[in-house]
Amino acid sequence: MQRLPAIFVAVLLFSVAVLVRGFDEKEAMAKLMESAESCMGEVGAAQSDLQDLVKKQPASTYEGKCLRACVMKSFGLLNSSGKLDTEAGHEKAKQYTGDDPAKLKLALEIGDTCAGISVPEDHCEAAEAYGACFKSEATKHGLM
Ligand SMILES: *[C@@H]1O[C@H](CO)[C@@H](O)[C@H](O)[C@H]1NC(C)=O
Repeated sequence: MQRLPAIFVAVLLFSVAVLVRGFDEKEAMAKLMESAESCMGEVGAAQSDLQDLVKKQPASTYEGKCLRACVMKSFGLLNSSGKLDTEAGHEKAKQYTGDDPAKLKLALEIGDTCAGISVPEDHCEAAEAYGACFKSEATKHGLM
């Protein structure tokens, strides 16, 4: 089974699933849910926080933001300083072959752009800020 570049998972998380046309969204969702469920207890998030995430909506509670931070950390996208780890993202992306190199490139570009924004020190707030960036970049590229 094809594994997913971590950046794709992040992109999926932040509502640009259209980027990854041609890859197994079901598998990505399964991985996302697995990690989200183990994160829920860790951050004290509620079912409604998980629902926000699944529905690709902004987090409505602080715990919801922390849920996203936890999921991003479990995928290695958010490092221990609470910053987007583009190196890890790139490495994973290179490790696997995207079905669509043009979209892979775009996903990496969005990752790089969003890694450049300044985010709050708080990891949960940072995860939400990165999410908002992914979403607006995707919109800018006409991907939403
Ligand atoms: C986390 O990533 C940021 C940005 O790439 C980097 O400056 C920082 O040193 C990293 N922290 C750790 C602990 O790896």
